[in-house]
Amino acid sequence: MIEFILNNKHITADLPPTTVLLDFIRRESQLTGTKEGCREGDCGACTVILGSLDKSKLNYKSINSCLMPLADVHGKHVVTIEGISPQTNNPDELSPIQQAMVEEGGTQCGFCTPGFVVSTTNYFLNETKPEVSGAINSLGGNICRCTGYAGIIRAVEKSIEAYNKSEKKSNNYKRLIEARFIPEYFLEIPKRLKLIKKQQTKKKQAEFLVGGGTDLYVQRWEELVQTESQFVSNKNVSSEIKIEKGKIVLGGAATIQQILESKIFKKYFPSLASQLELFGSLPIRNRATVAGNIVNASPIGDLSNILLSLDASVHLAGKSKRVVPLRKFYLGYKTLTKKKAEIIEKISFAIPPKHFFFNFEKISKRTYLDIASVNTSIALVAKNGKIESAGISAGGVAPIPLYLTKTCEALVNKEIKTDLLKSVVQVAAEEISPISDARGSAEYKRLLLRQLIYSHFILLFPEKINVEELL
Ligand SMILES: Cc1cc2nc3c(=O)[nH]c(=O)nc-3n(C[C@H](O)[C@H](O)[C@H](O)COP(=O)(O)OP(=O)(O)OC[C@H]3O[C@@H](n4cnc5c(N)ncnc54)[C@H](O)[C@@H]3O)c2cc1C
Ligand code: FES
Ligand code: FES
Repeated sequence: MIEFILNNKHITADLPPTTVLLDFIRRESQLTGTKEGCREGDCGACTVILGSLDKSKLNYKSINSCLMPLADVHGKHVVTIEGISPQTNNPDELSPIQQAMVEEGGTQCGFCTPGFVVSTTNYFLNETKPEVSGAINSLGGNICRCTGYAGIIRAVEKSIEAYNKSEKKSNNYKRLIEARFIPEYFLEIPKRLKLIKKQQTKKKQAEFLVGGGTDLYVQRWEELVQTESQFVSNKNVSSEIKIEKGKIVLGGAATIQQILESKIFKKYFPSLASQLELFGSLPIRNRATVAGNIVNASPIGDLSNILLSLDASVHLAGKSKRVVPLRKFYLGYKTLTKKKAEIIEKISFAIPPKHFFFNFEKISKRTYLDIASVNTSIALVAKNGKIESAGISAGGVAPIPLYLTKTCEALVNKEIKTDLLKSVVQVAAEEISPISDARGSAEYKRLLLRQLIYSHFILLFPEKINVEELL
């Protein structure tokens, strides 16, 4: 039995845990405000808000219900467009966000509108000092195909004005309720969620292990809904990001958004937060896990690319526990050293030392909400212009997320200068074997990697590199 709260209603569902939340919302619950567009996490028409209790604190985040297994909503609050009307007994009454959408011409055919309204509502649930740029960022996963975005942006601005005019309260939910952004029942949710007992877990082997589901539900959802599966959420896999014995440790279930918001990453990788904004959209980042990115083994995975440059170790748990360097994890296209029954419990890498330099570059066909044509990360220790250690990875140029062993060797103990860079990109060119596909020709990808390695050095050591000489 899966128990959760859908808007203001307590749900007990006796359905396969792999059931897609979107199907439950639309077909079982007949709440058709949530739309089905791409079913691949790309359009945002299916966006809902998911509230979970972390100790006693309720956290809300936006997710794509088309990629969400029912198992993972157990003990949580799911909010659809029908659940945010200021008066639950009068769903026709509009919230200030909905009203602004109407007044500012933010909607035409209306198909995308519930997703936009739900994502904007989620923004206000999480932000007491709303700003237009932040609100627009939170809509990164919502696509409108007919109205255009000007009206939607005006509606967002108007909603922020309405929020700012409302009376400040110590509890943001109370403020939002009084300003009619959300209904009153939200206040009772923590108490009601506490009454839901933890799910019983099945021990038997299953065909699939589902993490955030953002790869599995895109690639294999039809098989998933008919198959016995296990869920990382039921396996005591940590999502914590912490420092332990001189290492940065990421729980296997840590999400990309957690990394982006992590104080530890902000301290040691100050540029990474803005770079990770190019990873999917907020609802995808809210679900996509580190372990899922590694095991999916896409040659253009972003996190695997970053972690390769940092010489991360993968901590596996099966019949026994073992630690494998990520650089030895990929044997061939989607072939891993990991055994089927092994789970990634955590990933760790050394805390960056002094004189550490890091950069991540990604080129996609579209800037936002797209996977890379080519990506690359660099992690260097360099003192007085001389490289002491180097880690460079490259994605999209081989069947696996690639660590550029020889390129790194060619950098160590060398002075950083333009000539070194020119010779090093030639070494890199010999280590890669890109193929032509929808993301670009082999030749184009070769060129991209060269330019991105140049970018690493131009950004990190502008005073040492003569850009004119690279042209
Ligand atoms: C719209 C969209 C945009 C995307 N954008 C990007 C992007 O910009 N960059 C990028 O790199 N990726 C992107 N992705 C791909 C995906 O989000 C990532 O690869 C994500 O990190 C996968 O994590 P997950 O937890 O959702 O994996 P899942 O789909 O749950 O699982 C993927 C694989 O990992 C395995 N797995 C999951 N957790 C564990 C564990 N703890 N131990 C062992 N095995 C495990 C599963 O069994 C499965 O084989 C995008 C996906 C979508 C739908
Ligand atoms: S239906 Fe398009 S993101 Fe879910
Ligand atoms: S209003 Fe038609 S897709 Fe946005």
